[in-house]
This record gives sequence, C-alpha cells and structure tokens, in this order.
Amino acid sequence: MSSLKGMNAIITGSAKRIGRHLAICLAQEGVNLALHYNSSEKEAKELEEILKNYPIKTTLIKQDLNVTNAGETIFKSAIDKLGEIDILINNASIFPEHSIKKFSHEDLITSLNIHAWAPLQLARCLHSQCKKGIIINILDTRLWDYDPKHASYYLGKQLLRHITRILAVEFAPEIRVNAVAPGLILPPPGETEEYLKKMSKTNPLQTFGDENDVSDAVIFLLKAKFVTGQVIFVDGGRFLLGSANDGII
Ligand SMILES: NC(=O)c1ccc[n+]([C@@H]2O[C@H](COP(=O)([O-])OP(=O)(O)OC[C@H]3O[C@@H](n4cnc5c(N)ncnc54)[C@H](OP(=O)(O)O)[C@@H]3O)[C@@H](O)[C@H]2O)c1
Repeated sequence: MSSLKGMNAIITGSAKRIGRHLAICLAQEGVNLALHYNSSEKEAKELEEILKNYPIKTTLIKQDLNVTNAGETIFKSAIDKLGEIDILINNASIFPEHSIKKFSHEDLITSLNIHAWAPLQLARCLHSQCKKGIIINILDTRLWDYDPKHASYYLGKQLLRHITRILAVEFAPEIRVNAVAPGLILPPPGETEEYLKKMSKTNPLQTFGDENDVSDAVIFLLKAKFVTGQVIFVDGGRFLLGSANDGII
C-alpha cells in the first residue's frame, strides 16, 4: 500500500476525542497536519505540543463551521501554512438531542452547516487545486437506520452521506472520496463507559470499539488507491440490525 509520508492533511474537529486520535495516527504516518478546532483551544495547543515529537509540520486553525465561508477560510489558511493539501478528513460534529417535532430552523441550519456545507466547501477547495487528493467523511452507523432522538444531526449527516457518493463520481479521477461510519466508540460527553457497555447489546458482536478501530479504517481508506465511494462501518455490525433491534439481542 502507498505511503502517506510527506502529505498534507486537514482534519476538522481535531482537538479532542476521535479527531485528536486521527491526528496522532496521521502524524505517525508522517503526514503534515492542519489541525482545525473551534472552542477547544487549550486541547488543540496541547495536541500540537505532543505532535512536536514527530518530524512533521503542524498548524492550528480556529474556525466556527457554522458560518457561510468556514470551509474556504480553513482551506486557505491550511495552504498558506502547509502548501497544497492532499488529504481532507471531515470529522467535526455536534450531537444535540431533539426529535423531528422539536428542532428549530436554526438547529437544522446549524447541523447542515457543520455536517454538510462546510465539508462540501472544503472538498470543493481540494478539488479546485486540480491535483490528486483523498477525502474521508466521518459518518455514523445510525444513518443506515433512523435516530429519532438526534433528528437534526441525522439529517445533516445524511446529506454528508449523499455528498460522499456524489463527489466520489464528480471528483474522480483526481480525488477519491470515502467514508467511515462508526458505531459505539466513545460515550457522548457526560456519559461513561457504562453507556457503551449497556448499548453494546445493540450490535451482533455485542461489544464496543475504540478510536483505534476508527483510525485503522481511515488509514486503510487513505492508502487504498483503487477504492472510492465506499463506506466502512466500524460498528460491530450494528448497521445490519438497525435501531429497531436496540435492546432485543
Ligand atoms: N463518538 C462516537 O462513538 C461516534 C459514533 C458515531 C459517529 N461518530 C462520528 O465520529 C466523529 C467524531 O466523533 P467525536 O465523538 O469524537 O466528535 P465530537 O467530540 O462530538 O466533535 C468533534 C469536534 O467537532 C467540533 N465542532 C463542533 N461544533 C463545531 C463548530 N460549530 N465549528 C467547528 N467545529 C465544531 C468540536 O471542536 P471544538 O471542541 O474545538 O469546539 C469537537 O471537538 C463525528 O463526526 C461523529 O459524528 C462518533
């Protein structure tokens, strides 16, 4: 498989949790990193400090994705600091709890901006460089079913799922576009491992994963030069059952 060494990557929402882990894994592969964050400045600076242990270039980019030109601003800043970009990982996300009956217009627009518009704008910027590139969109196994408790999240991420498919065709052959759909990896903020243990009954493997399971899939897709338009589920097989089976196994 091809090496990623010396490539330049943007990772959105990289200061904490899965994004942070992806940053460290890409650093281990020798990838220079534009580390996007929004509110987690302290964590972003701490991550940049850790990444000094690797022979790579890094730059921090603070940007709210819930504004019209967020993607273009991030891309320009990343190019200025690192040079042409090879890899884009759309990871940033919000996970507000509300039903289809309850969310506001603003809730929906916020989800669409963060989960679909900013990722699409970043992807267009990568394509406009007219060179080879790789995009990974981080989805969610819930998209293959329905998540009534997180309705605006579900709709925003569904759009990203379709964007993945469309761009895999539209941006070929220069750019490969794939996705990873995690299941139970980290508990939502405020929850503990007990949440993961309880929910692990909802997938055929009856367990939960960790950040390494996600990064293994991401690294595979980054190196898989004959793969595009693909989604790898990292979910213990939950997508085969859907939420209707929650708690039944
Ligand atoms: N955790 C899981 O088990 C799981 C399961 C299924 C799917 N996923 C997907 O995997 C990805 C990573 O999950 P995660 O739990 O690590 O994500 P997360 O902690 O919920 O969010 C990642 C980052 O997104 C950034 N973000 C949120 N709102 C933003 C805004 N308005 N502008 C810019 N950045 C913003 C935040 O950056 P700041 O902190 O800097 O504000 C946050 O640290 C997500 O796409 C998620 O949907 C995760």
